[in-house]
Amino acid sequence: MQSPGDYSSNGFNGEHHREIELKEKHFPGLTSSFGGAKKRSRGVAPEPRDGLSNGVRVSDKLGEEKSLETPPPPPKSPPPCTDFDVAYFHSYAHVGIHEEMIKDRARTETYREAIMQHQSFIQGKVVVDVGCGTGILSIFCAQAGAKRVYAVDASDIAVQAQEVVKANGLSDKVIVLHGRVEDVEIDEEVDVIVSEWMGYMLLYESMLGSVITARDRWLKPGGLILPSHATLYMAPISHPDRYSHSIDFWRSVYGIDMSAMMQIAKQCAFEEPSVELISGENVLTWPEVVKHIDCQTIKIQELDSVIANYKFKSMMRAPMHGFAFWFDVEFSGPTSSPSKSTSASSVASGSSSMSPSREGNQKKRSNPSDALVLSTSPEAPPTHWEQTIVYFYDPIDVEQDQVIEGSVTLSQSKENRRFMNIHLEYS
Ligand SMILES: C[S@@+](CC[C@H](N)C(=O)[O-])C[C@H]1O[C@@H](n2cnc3c(N)ncnc32)[C@H](O)[C@@H]1O
Repeated sequence: MQSPGDYSSNGFNGEHHREIELKEKHFPGLTSSFGGAKKRSRGVAPEPRDGLSNGVRVSDKLGEEKSLETPPPPPKSPPPCTDFDVAYFHSYAHVGIHEEMIKDRARTETYREAIMQHQSFIQGKVVVDVGCGTGILSIFCAQAGAKRVYAVDASDIAVQAQEVVKANGLSDKVIVLHGRVEDVEIDEEVDVIVSEWMGYMLLYESMLGSVITARDRWLKPGGLILPSHATLYMAPISHPDRYSHSIDFWRSVYGIDMSAMMQIAKQCAFEEPSVELISGENVLTWPEVVKHIDCQTIKIQELDSVIANYKFKSMMRAPMHGFAFWFDVEFSGPTSSPSKSTSASSVASGSSSMSPSREGNQKKRSNPSDALVLSTSPEAPPTHWEQTIVYFYDPIDVEQDQVIEGSVTLSQSKENRRFMNIHLEYS
């Protein structure tokens, strides 16, 4: 094993490893996504205000029978709301993050289409929107004919969601609950869960755990979860332009040899994962699946640590600059869902716009269930998630057909479960 500073620059003759923490303060893409200097503090249970309190519905115009003002204690005590959670929810109280998400048409239109595609299932049914934000997905569900939608958000954005619901004449259908999914009470089972929970690199932000909690608390057997499946991919990439822009630049600056800056430039540029757009041309091989998630069956404990072995074969001779990660989510219904019978190999014939490797790595994937897919692949239309890149400090020259193998471990940070540690081994 070698430390990052010891990377061989002339080929994959040795084994290497890299340890990185994905966290807000060092995550350029995240910073920009969450508004940079205008960081939101999003919190757990935001302080009750204007008659709102954690777990209490915002709407006061609903029938008495649904009043949740004195919720009974939950059967199991929910996980504590940490200061990090408070900051997290607070950040979602700012409009910028919601504007960015809603303006991401690939994201928002795919959700709307998926909801409309399942209209026959949703009609007359009860829905819970886990993390409703401005209420947009709840309103799509109401438009699709839902009988009742519980729109839950712990962030103060729930106050605006309530206003939006009212302005659209949907207060009799959409019940905004201002509190954590883990804490609020809903006095009935639900038929549908809708949620936009995906973070950078899919698992950053750790919101999927809250969807699982909602599923286990309220979803009827045979209920619908949108999205139904998610898959995280990785692939080796070559990105000479990026490397030259950030590193080679120092070789000669206004005619001055500044190559002494290169080492620190590498550290600054590549110490943390980078959220940026790459193109399919940067990708050296077909991708591998790091984790496939069936939202009907996944357990919270599975998310503590995700470990995947990979083996790529480079399709060309090129300098390799690191690994890219991206994900897709699929919206299949309970009946057409491959979820219950999906095995690791059938995942490989799922929905991504680029094929995972191993058995099926030489052709693009088709989607056997014809389910709608929201993809953040380098070949798909850009989204606000872009791709997440883990760069090496120095490129490694790979030959055509050269094998690149190793493992990746993604683990929730012990300090703040919304952060993620990435451990990469490669040879
Ligand atoms: C990515 S945003 C999605 C907002 C909205 N659904 C949309 O699609 O535009 C996630 C939202 O979930 C909320 N959230 C995350 N975890 C939650 C939890 N455990 N309980 C309640 N709300 C949560 C956040 O406050 C945030 O507003």
